[in-house]
Amino acid sequence: MSGHGDPIPMTSTACGPLRGVADVPGDKSISHRSLILGAMCVGETTITGLLEGQDVLDTAKAMRAFGAQVTDHGEGKWSVRGVGVGGFAEPDGVIDCGNSGTGVRLIMGAMATQPITATFSGDASLNGRPMARVTDPLALFGCQTVGRSKGRLPMTLVGARTPVPVRYVVPVPSAQVKSAVLLAGLNAPGQTVVIEKEATRDHTERMLQGFGAEVSVVETEEGREITLTGQPELVAQHIEVPRDPSSAAFPVCAALIVPGSDVLVPGIGLNPTRAGLFTTLREMGADLTYENERVEGGEPVADLRARFSPDLIGIEVPPARAASMIDEYPVLSVIAAFASGQTVMRGVRELRVKESDRIDAMAKGLRANGIVVDEGEDWWTVTGAGHGKVAGGGLCASQLDHRIAMSFLIMGMAANAPVRVDDGGPIATSFPIFEPLMTALGAQVSRDV
Ligand code: S3P
Repeated sequence: MSGHGDPIPMTSTACGPLRGVADVPGDKSISHRSLILGAMCVGETTITGLLEGQDVLDTAKAMRAFGAQVTDHGEGKWSVRGVGVGGFAEPDGVIDCGNSGTGVRLIMGAMATQPITATFSGDASLNGRPMARVTDPLALFGCQTVGRSKGRLPMTLVGARTPVPVRYVVPVPSAQVKSAVLLAGLNAPGQTVVIEKEATRDHTERMLQGFGAEVSVVETEEGREITLTGQPELVAQHIEVPRDPSSAAFPVCAALIVPGSDVLVPGIGLNPTRAGLFTTLREMGADLTYENERVEGGEPVADLRARFSPDLIGIEVPPARAASMIDEYPVLSVIAAFASGQTVMRGVRELRVKESDRIDAMAKGLRANGIVVDEGEDWWTVTGAGHGKVAGGGLCASQLDHRIAMSFLIMGMAANAPVRVDDGGPIATSFPIFEPLMTALGAQVSRDV
């Protein structure tokens, strides 16, 4: 079921060549951070290209509840008049973060060192996800929490009245945990230090620097060590949100498997902590090129050109690359189904605690479409059927997970029989224009009535 309404069953059918330009929406990670950091400075932050997906809209609503003035000026232009570091007001009601783990975990971090109390909740997917990974380090600052069993939402946080800075080694590769600690560190005196053993997306560090905070990053024996000096005065910014590589993944992958396709996906953020999928696709033999490479708003950006690639081969994805493509494994497994040979994905335990258990959700749906999948706790393999030999015809459960729904709809575009998903509703959380965008390229995606 969709978190925000009745289920929307959808079907995707094999189509002719996909051609044209795919203007995908703004980056989800950067959109959340723009609103949250904008709310923590004094003055007006202006944003263009904000992703207007439900996840980000829920964060905008939350920032208003904490006292920021958040205004939608239309066409992706937004402004945030912030309340300053430590200036959050206590919300009147429950903060509903919908489907968004990023939203709730970053906002919890931002409020944990402020003398206010707030209660957080979400949809069935979010309320099942582990929150101890953020509340454990937030407790070190002096924040108290009461939630459901196994550290799940709904949960109330009582922010620290006299926060202390912390030194924290993040035990799982998670940019959300790292970011929650850094945002909490903003209102703690002195230096907060976060160490990550594996580098994860670094938008929070980059953006904190952009907003005027003192942040240094050094590589040490323990890992990547980030030091933030607390209680800065953040300076309002103008932010141009690059387009989301995680959304670009869908038209790119569709073009690789639909015969005759040639699709341009312009202006995609290629921050190395995010671009692992594209490297992997090229290793598999994808005809995928970067055009017009440039830097925009401090982030590397390029236009991606993807063409039909009939000779894809399965590969072993290096585990060290996992963090840089963690959200892309579902759609990679679809590409793996159209490749020849086996694709092996190891070191991906984190996939089990996303919007769904993504290994389980993809394995079930791939098998329903005639693909052989093997899995363990932190690995899975997909045995490719090869181009033209993916049976399709399956009904796939999206499990309240946008990326599962979109991955199977991409599969249907080149499978021998239509592929159905039980609920495409969650797609609106991250890629609200997925259906019209794919249809305009030539895809046949429809809502079942
Ligand atoms: C995100 C971090 C990742 C990713 C999510 C967005 C972020 O989650 O899966 O979609 O914006 O920080 P984890 O921190 O759980 O790896």
